[in-house]
Amino acid sequence: MPPALVLIGPPGAGKSTLTGTLLERFRLVRVATGELLRAEIAAGTALGRAAAQYVERGALVADGLIDQLLRASLDAIPADTGVLLDGYPRNVHQADVLDAVLRHTGRPLTAVLALDLPDAEVVRRLGGRRECRGAGAPWVLHVDDAAAVARCRAAGGTPVQRADDRPAVIRRRLAVYRAETEPLLTRYRAAGLLRVVDATGAPAEVATRAVAALASAQ
Ligand code: AP5
Repeated sequence: MPPALVLIGPPGAGKSTLTGTLLERFRLVRVATGELLRAEIAAGTALGRAAAQYVERGALVADGLIDQLLRASLDAIPADTGVLLDGYPRNVHQADVLDAVLRHTGRPLTAVLALDLPDAEVVRRLGGRRECRGAGAPWVLHVDDAAAVARCRAAGGTPVQRADDRPAVIRRRLAVYRAETEPLLTRYRAAGLLRVVDATGAPAEVATRAVAALASAQ
C-alpha cells in the first residue's frame, strides 16, 4: 500500500528545504498546505481571498478551508502513489480529518517526522529570508548572505520579504505552532509513529538525519 508521511515542525524549521530529499528517496508526491494557500491567494480565488486574512497575521487558516484544500489535493494524486504531507496537520481537527481521509484512500500513515529547532534560530532564519524575484524563477536567500544578495541584484532581481515573515507575524506563527501543532507530537508518539530530528546545522546534515530516522520506520 502506498505510504503517507507527515512532516511537522515550527515555521522556518526547514520543512520545504527537506522535501526534495524525501520525495526522491521515498518516491512520494508532496502536499504542502502553505504553498497551496499562497497559490490560491496569488490566483485571487474565493478560497485564496478567504485564507489571506489568516495567513497575513500568522494564524491558522479556518479548518473548513483547509479540509477543502486537502481533500482536493489528495483526490488528484493517483491511488498507487505515496504522499508527503508538508505542514499538515496543524491541529487536532486536521489530524482527525487526516486519519479519516487516509483510511478512505487506503494509505497507512507510516511515520511523522518532527523537525526540532530552537525559537532563536527560527527567528534568525525567517527574519532574514528573502525571495529573489524579477530575475527568472524566484529563489530563496538570507540577507546575511551578501554574495547571494549581490547575485540577485546583479541579475536584475529584488530580494523580497514574504508578508508573513515580518517579526510580529513570525512570533505569532511560532506561538500558534507551540500551542496548536506541537501537542500533536504526543498523539503520534503514543501511536509509535513519531521520529524527531534535530534541524540545526546545514541542510545536508538535517537531510541525512531525516533519511536515517525514516529508514528505520519503513
Ligand atoms: P507554511 O508556508 O507552511 O509556513 P511554515 O510552516 O510557517 O513554514 P515555512 O514555509 O516558513 O518554513 P519551512 O519549515 O518550510 O522552512 P523552509 O524550508 O522554508 O504556512 C504559511 C501559513 O499558511 C501559516 O502560517 C498558516 O497561516 C497557513 N497554513 C499553512 N498550512 C496550514 C494548515 N494546515 N492549517 C491552517 N493554516 C495553514 O526554510 C526556512 C528558511 O530557512 C529558508 O530561507 C531556508 O533557506 C532556510 N533553511 C532551511 N534549512 C536550513 C538549515 N538547515 N540551515 C540554515 N537555513 C536553513
